Amino acid sequence: MNMLHKIKAAAAGISQELIAIRRHLHSNPELSFQEYNTVSYVKMQLEGMGITQIKSLATTGLEVLIEGRNPNKKVVALRADMDALPIIEANDVPYKSKNVGVMHACGHDAHTTCLLGVAKILQGERESFEGTVKLIFQPGEEKLPGGATLMIAEGVLENPTVNAILGQHVMPLIPVGKVGFRSGLYMASTDELYVTIKGKGGHGAMPHLCIDPVVVMAQMISALQTLVSRQSNPIIPSVLSFGKVIANGATNVIPNEVYMEGTFRTLDEKWRSKAHELMLRTAHSVAEGFGATVDFEIRKGYPFLHNNPALTARSKAAALNYMGEENIVDLDIWMAAEDFAYYSQEADACFYRLGTRNESKGIVSGVHTPTFDIDEEALEIGAGLMAYLAITELEAVG
Ligand code: NI
Repeated sequence: MNMLHKIKAAAAGISQELIAIRRHLHSNPELSFQEYNTVSYVKMQLEGMGITQIKSLATTGLEVLIEGRNPNKKVVALRADMDALPIIEANDVPYKSKNVGVMHACGHDAHTTCLLGVAKILQGERESFEGTVKLIFQPGEEKLPGGATLMIAEGVLENPTVNAILGQHVMPLIPVGKVGFRSGLYMASTDELYVTIKGKGGHGAMPHLCIDPVVVMAQMISALQTLVSRQSNPIIPSVLSFGKVIANGATNVIPNEVYMEGTFRTLDEKWRSKAHELMLRTAHSVAEGFGATVDFEIRKGYPFLHNNPALTARSKAAALNYMGEENIVDLDIWMAAEDFAYYSQEADACFYRLGTRNESKGIVSGVHTPTFDIDEEALEIGAGLMAYLAITELEAVG
């Protein structure tokens, strides 16, 4: 039996176990950087498989080594994130969150489950491959500064040095049974904007005695939008959105200040820093023009995510072998952010998508919504495919 069939059979053999693991994790979600029970559960599972090389990193993270023959030949890392979101689950399912107000609404329970499945499959196949697979169970993907930065700072990509890193993420837009790849630029950098415009409040009937921060805000948002359409190179995707604006006056009250929050996303580091400068300049000029002042704070988030073209081509070709050509989807650029981007800045990386949608089962909700769920058929595919991609990459020259 060749490797592909061995892995497929092993994945099929643990499919029920994977569903049970995922349901346990889904029922017991923990917020970013608080994954204490999750990580001890993961550790217990790994130890149960006879895996001994388990190291704690970044408090609630794990670095795990599975060595094949000739372990120094090459190292392929596989990453799963483990944190949940502050959302009240609205699904009425037997595995509903028991931690009310916290929910695995981004599928990180599935990522963790699949990586445990990979561990089990590869631990059983240690004699069949050369090199080392490093499993990264990572905390805090959903919260700045991102668990990936902490794991990298604590040396997860070193000792032994990682030659390539793969990450998979559920995708409710893609039907279960399919996976998506994209070479090169894939996801955006993200920066949070916190803005306070200070004017001078007063009676709405006497604006001439006030400095109306509401009008300044309106001008400022328009001017900042123009920056994206006029200053940005049209071939570099950029998004600027203000989703929160609070001008807490009344029909007849001009408030003293206006507060707003927004996000800036793009896919080019040079333009990103230039845009920061221009946003500050524009905001201050607009405020000054009206006699107001502004505090404009830019909180830097994750960088853009870049999929190494050679690694992505190899992974896509391997996925095609594993899944069949009809089940490979080409992904578009996505302006969401993901802290896997930090790994992609340090090593050859490939972040791909696991289809989890099933309209006939009513599984259609987007990530980060209270009704998000996955078709659990995806777990066997996610575990088997990731194990196969790791083995293929260990064998690849490059
Ligand atoms: Ni996620």
